[in-house]
Amino acid sequence: MRIGILGSGLMGGKLGTIFARAGHDVVFSYARREQKLKRLAREAQGNARAGTPVEAARDADALLLAVHWSRVDDVLKQAGDVSGKVILTCSIPMNADDSGLVIAHTSSGAEELAKKVRGAHVVSAFGTVPSEVLFGVFAAKRKAKRPSLVYCGDDSGPKELAAGLIRDVGFDPVDAGPLRIARYLEPFTLLIGQLAYEGDGGPELAYRFEWFGRKE
Ligand SMILES: NC(=O)c1ccc[n+]([C@@H]2O[C@H](COP(=O)([O-])OP(=O)(O)OC[C@H]3O[C@@H](n4cnc5c(N)ncnc54)[C@H](OP(=O)(O)O)[C@@H]3O)[C@@H](O)[C@H]2O)c1
Repeated sequence: MRIGILGSGLMGGKLGTIFARAGHDVVFSYARREQKLKRLAREAQGNARAGTPVEAARDADALLLAVHWSRVDDVLKQAGDVSGKVILTCSIPMNADDSGLVIAHTSSGAEELAKKVRGAHVVSAFGTVPSEVLFGVFAAKRKAKRPSLVYCGDDSGPKELAAGLIRDVGFDPVDAGPLRIARYLEPFTLLIGQLAYEGDGGPELAYRFEWFGRKE
C-alpha cells in the first residue's frame, strides 16, 4: 500500500518506518525541517521518501494523521483535498500543555476530525499505545501472543485496511465499533499514558484483552 504520513514525530516517524519495513510505500511529511524527513526516509530501509503533505496525500491508499491536536487544521490545509481517502488518526485531542482532553464525553477528536474532512474515511487507530513500544512490538511480531490494539470507525473497507496495518505492526486488532467509540478510546489513552510515564515499568507498554471462554 501507499501510505502518507502527516506528522513525522514520535508516532508518525516510528509507524512510517515500520510500515516501510513491512513492505509498504511511505511518504514522510510535516516536520519542521526537511532534513528530518529525508533522514527518516533513508533510515526506514524500505520504499520511503520525504515529501510535502500534499505529496503524501496525493496517491495514498491511507494517510496517518500524527500531529498534536493544535496542528490538525494546519496539516489538513497543507494536505489539500483528502476526500475519498482513508485517514488513520492517532492524534488525541490534548490541550496545549498535554495535561487534559479538550474534547470528550459528547464527542471525540476522531469524530471532530471526520467533520473537518467530510468525504474521507476516518479510522481511529494506534493512538492507544506509547510510541516507545512500537519497535518492540514489531520485533516480537512472530510471537504467538500479540498485544491488542483497539480501533474504531464507521466504514468497513477502511477498517479492514486499518486492521491489516495494525497486524503489520505486530498487534492483534480489536474492532471497538463505530467512530463514536473514540469517546471512550481517547480517554483510555490517558490511562495508558499514566501507566507508561508515571508508573514503575517504563514507557514500553502495550495491553492485551482476553476473552475468557471464547473459542479460538
Ligand atoms: N507520542 C506518543 O507516545 C503518543 C501516543 C499516542 C498518541 N499520540 C498522539 O499522536 C499525535 C502525535 O504525537 P507525537 O508524540 O508523534 O508528536 P510529535 O513527536 O510532536 O510529532 C508531531 C510532528 O508534527 C511536526 N510539527 C509540529 N509543528 C509543526 C509545524 N509548525 N510545522 C511543521 N511540522 C510541525 C513535528 O515536527 P518536528 O519533527 O520538527 O518536531 C513532528 O514531526 C498527538 O496527537 C498525540 O496526542 C502520541
